[in-house]
Amino acid sequence: CTKGESLSSVESHATGRSIVGKSVITLDDLSVPQIQELLHKAQYIDSHRKEVAHTCDGRVLATLFYEPSTRTRLSFETAMLRLGGKVIGFAGAQLSSVTKGESISDTLKTVSNYVDVVAIRHPKEGAALVAADAAGVPVINAGDGGHMHPTQTLADLATLQSRFGRVNNLTIGLCGDLTFGRTVHSLIETLCRFGNVRFILISPKELKTPQYVINRIKATPSCSYEEVTDLSSVIGDLDALYMTRVQKERFFNEDDYLRLRDTYILDEAKLRKAKPTMAVLHPLPRVNEIAVEVDNDPRAAYFEQVKNGMLMRMALESSVLGDQLAGYEEKEIT
Ligand code: CP
Repeated sequence: CTKGESLSSVESHATGRSIVGKSVITLDDLSVPQIQELLHKAQYIDSHRKEVAHTCDGRVLATLFYEPSTRTRLSFETAMLRLGGKVIGFAGAQLSSVTKGESISDTLKTVSNYVDVVAIRHPKEGAALVAADAAGVPVINAGDGGHMHPTQTLADLATLQSRFGRVNNLTIGLCGDLTFGRTVHSLIETLCRFGNVRFILISPKELKTPQYVINRIKATPSCSYEEVTDLSSVIGDLDALYMTRVQKERFFNEDDYLRLRDTYILDEAKLRKAKPTMAVLHPLPRVNEIAVEVDNDPRAAYFEQVKNGMLMRMALESSVLGDQLAGYEEKEIT
C-alpha cells in the first residue's frame, strides 16, 4: 500500500458492532462509544488489578515485531500476562522464517493456529491490514510504517482524559516530525471523530502533516487547524503539547535527518511561556526533543502515557477476545 492514504479494515467508521473478534488496524475500526468503553475499562483495570488477573486464563498472544520497540511490545506482553494469559512471538524477524522469504500472509496463517490474538509491528504501511486479512484471529496494529499506531492513540486519549477529564474541547499542539510520525496521524484522525479540537501543527516545512490527515481535519466542521514553524510563539495557547521524535528510520537522506532532528527542543525556559496546566505528551522514545529537566515538571505527562498504554492494551486485548473483566459491568454499545 502507498503512503498518503488512510488504510482501514472497514469501509467507513465502525458502528455498534461488537468489538469481540475484531482486528484493529486503525481506530476507525472502533466506534467512538467503543473507544470510550475501552477508556472506562482501563480505569477499572487500574483500580482492580487482582480482580482482573485471571481474565484471559488460557489465552495466548503473539507479538510479531518486524521493527524495534520497547514500550509497545513489552506493554502488549505485560498486558496479556497481567490478565492471566501467555505470550509468544519475536522481537525482530531475523530469527524467524521471514529471513527465508516467508510472506506476512503465510506467517499469519501459521501463527493463527497457535494463538488467540496477534499484535504486529511492521515497517511497511498496510502490513497490519494484510496480516488481518490472512489471520484467523484478531490482529492489532502495533504500528505500520509511517501510517498508524492505534494503541498509542488509546494511551494518548487515556492521558488527556486523566489530565483534563475529557479528550476534546482542547487546543492541542503537535510538534516535530508530523510527516512520518504515525502516532500523530492516528491521534488527529481519532480526535476529529470526537470533534471540537483546535489543532496547532508545529513542524519544519519539510515535515508537515500529510494531506490525507489535513483533509480529515477539514472534513470535521467542529475542528480547526493552523500550520506553524515556531513553537515559542504558540506554546502559550496550548492545553496539551504533543512532542514527537524526528523519525530517523524513515528518512531517505542522512543529511536531511541531521539538519532537522534538533529543530524543536522543549526545555524549562520554553515551558515558562506555557499554561501551568498544559500537559506535555510524547509517545517516546525521545532523543533530544524534550530536555531531561522537564521530567520533573508537573506538566510532563509522558511517563503517565506509558502506564496508560499498558492499561489500554489490557482493555483492548480482553475486549477483542470477549473475556469479561471480573466485577466490571459491560455497557450496551450502540
Ligand atoms: N511509543 C512507541 O511506539 O514506543 P516503542 O517504539 O518503544 O514501542
